[in-house]
Amino acid sequence: MKANLVLLPGDGIGPEIVESAKSVLEVVAKRFGHEFQYTSCLIGGIAIDETGDPLPQETVDACRQSDAILLGAVGGPKWDDPNAKTRPEAGLLRIRKELGLFANLRPIKMFDELADASPLRPDIIKGTDILFFRELTGGIYFGQSGTGEVDGHESAYQSMVYSVPEVERIVRLAAKAAQGRDNRLTSVDKANVLEPSRLWRRTAARVMADEFPDVQYDVVLVDAMAMHLINRPADFDVVVTGNMFGDILTDEASMLPGSLGMLPSASLGDGGPGLYEPIHGSAPDIAGKGIANPLATILASAMLLRHSLDLNEEASAVESAVQEVLADGLRTADIARGGDSVSTEVMGQAVTAKLA
Ligand code: IPM
Ligand code: MG
Repeated sequence: MKANLVLLPGDGIGPEIVESAKSVLEVVAKRFGHEFQYTSCLIGGIAIDETGDPLPQETVDACRQSDAILLGAVGGPKWDDPNAKTRPEAGLLRIRKELGLFANLRPIKMFDELADASPLRPDIIKGTDILFFRELTGGIYFGQSGTGEVDGHESAYQSMVYSVPEVERIVRLAAKAAQGRDNRLTSVDKANVLEPSRLWRRTAARVMADEFPDVQYDVVLVDAMAMHLINRPADFDVVVTGNMFGDILTDEASMLPGSLGMLPSASLGDGGPGLYEPIHGSAPDIAGKGIANPLATILASAMLLRHSLDLNEEASAVESAVQEVLADGLRTADIARGGDSVSTEVMGQAVTAKLA
């Protein structure tokens, strides 16, 4: 197969980990007889520095014409001035919106080899395997906002809006994914307080009753969910929720396996290219040191192979290679727990060696 891939290295450790994942894709292409073409484009802080815009039009155009996109990370202290005209994060939010990537899949899976990396007791996390569906192009992150004055005090507001079709499409995707897993879906909202959550709850309930009566379905309030994730994470299969709740809960859940450095994510829309990235950020404190963990981005490239290119065997091969290097005892600093650690490059090469 021929595929046209856009790389968006971004900021901080982004370029290092995307390079690592690209080497893995190259080896996959060679071993399985595919031809991948790569176009590197600007996004985030580096795009602000070079063009003044965190998402130059050229990047949007290249992404639109691609089969899939692999992103590193955006942001860093250099662009953190709250009064700046624009921010790196705006580029990420906009590319999601421009490409209609309304579904963010975040799998939270334990690696047996890293069982002792979790901050939770082994008996609590054992068997944890959750697939989050975070709504990604609506809700409060895209709501109308502004600043003004209330009772003579400076104030600010941001509104949360969801429409029925926005809820329907993400619930459908999540329910379909549940059917391919353990057939259980949990919807998370704050329907006891928020109007958009009440719309979310009734819409989700209707979609589930009409279209997925076979899927075991329940609802949980977001504050309770924050608790359950720590207390009984192994009880959940697929979880669907809105943009902000999903942002927060997936960062919380990412700690269950012990390191943010291991977790990939996929952002998908209706057809069109998907965008794949690690869950973690740009880690400016370790940027350029060559010690970042490339495995989340490598696992994101496996998701890219599976979801955008339909190359399931190839995706599984990458995932197995990652498992094998962990079984061999290789660890980057973030998962070494004080023991010996290897560089980004050595970790990446170990994965490609398993694949070659
Ligand atoms: C994420 C990030 C982004 C988000 C930021 C960088 C805009 O936290 O992908 O979870 O909130 O969506
Ligand atoms: Mg986040």
